[in-house]
Amino acid sequence: MTTLNQALRNRELARRNGGGDLLKIAKLLASLSPEQRRFVEHKHRFKVAVCPRRAGKSQSLCVYMLVEALAAKSTPILFLSLTRESAKAAVWGTLLELLDKFNIQHESRPSTLQIRFPNGSLITLVGGDVPGARHKLRGRKFKLVCIDEAGFVSNSNFDQLIYSLLPALADLRGTLAMASSPGETMDGFFYHAYAGDMKDSWVQFDWDMLANPYFMTPATSDKYKTKGEEELATICNLQFGGNWSHPTFLREYRGKYVQDNEKLVYPFTSVNVIQTVPTLDDEQFGIGIDFGVTSESAIVVGKFSQYSKDFIIIDSWSRAKCSVDELAAEIMSRQEKYNPIMTVADTGGLGAATTQELRRRYQIPINAADKRDKVFYQRTMAADLYSGYIKVLEGLELLNEWTKIVRGPDGEELKGVKNHEADAALYLWRYAHTAYLKHAEPRLTDDQIMLNQLIQQAIQESKEAEDDLY
Ligand SMILES: Nc1ncnc2c1ncn2[C@@H]1O[C@H](COP(=O)(O)OP(=O)(O)O)[C@@H](O)[C@H]1O
Ligand SMILES: [Mg+2]
Repeated sequence: MTTLNQALRNRELARRNGGGDLLKIAKLLASLSPEQRRFVEHKHRFKVAVCPRRAGKSQSLCVYMLVEALAAKSTPILFLSLTRESAKAAVWGTLLELLDKFNIQHESRPSTLQIRFPNGSLITLVGGDVPGARHKLRGRKFKLVCIDEAGFVSNSNFDQLIYSLLPALADLRGTLAMASSPGETMDGFFYHAYAGDMKDSWVQFDWDMLANPYFMTPATSDKYKTKGEEELATICNLQFGGNWSHPTFLREYRGKYVQDNEKLVYPFTSVNVIQTVPTLDDEQFGIGIDFGVTSESAIVVGKFSQYSKDFIIIDSWSRAKCSVDELAAEIMSRQEKYNPIMTVADTGGLGAATTQELRRRYQIPINAADKRDKVFYQRTMAADLYSGYIKVLEGLELLNEWTKIVRGPDGEELKGVKNHEADAALYLWRYAHTAYLKHAEPRLTDDQIMLNQLIQQAIQESKEAEDDLY
């Protein structure tokens, strides 16, 4: 129902806009729920929406782009997603549907994923995986850049791409609107815009599936009010055993950022973090090294014992673009301090030359790390983390790395996350595990030794007694 005031306002806006399109803009906006509309209409230039799956993020971005394209002539708009395929899958079809539904004149070119309007506005869809995407976008100007599912990756390349788009918005005082479900790591550009360091420069939005008009229709069962509630309950029961606080459920269907230990490669908890270092019975020290020729080099110091399953990490260090001399100095100071019985490093591939130099020039003995079946050993290490055998001194950078290293769908750790200290720790732990931890038994007390002797003696005597009978 249009009130007189609204009609007058609309007419005024229509006059300013050059007519016809205004009604279409109004209809487009009206197709959104109030929560979706608030995101689209908010005037701030930097907007970030964190919503679960099926909340209508992509749909809202589609409406947003069309509204902007119609609202002013010659408006350049960019839609960016992780890959060209995902960009196309998320919005191309929806855009065409909306254009058709609201009878909006346009020309669409599927080969370039572009939509051109008679007023000169242009929507372009791109994927972050397009080779040289950064360079292709350099120097272009946009009034609106929409980024879909930006929080879903722990991929610093994509973050770089976002950074490189910021200047493209400056000329037209354009808007950057990002929408995504929460990522698996609490890190990256998107996370920091929503809840981290950059929070104050952004306006945050969140709505869920229940605020998507599509799911607001009545449920089939009268146990639930809407289709959305019914859908959520069904998913929770089927996939998460009815556990409404399951981390994956919270993240994907409720849109909450949660640390999901199941996804962590090194799933440590407070059990694994210590404030003071205990002394082990007959403790030995070891050093783990990860060589980074162009990236970071890392050193980790741990201790263990033939009498214990505990593995305690007491020192971790890493530095970018470190020379062999610097690295040698760091290793040698630790050798002096701890007198380690093993110094394990990645001696193959890129580490080969560094290993040779450390052995030859500095006489540093280096044991070769076994790198086969990395995933298997990461899982074994994870089991020891769960059991509490692995302990790390609070404050080490290693722990910071561990919170960010997550598994991809194939079980391998996702690339693009800093992992040098984690790798150094894995090399050392694996070596110590094979040599000591796997068959470690607590040292026997004097009483136990005495008891064992008595048992052996008793067995012997009963055998002799038996022999006497014959
Ligand atoms: N305002 C809306 N009106 C009608 N259908 C909508 C609306 N918002 C979302 N939908 C529908 O809800 C479903 C999920 O929307 P989508 O944008 O794909 O969600 P998301 O990107 O958050 O996963 C789609 O079928 C979409 O067409
Ligand atoms: Mg989507």
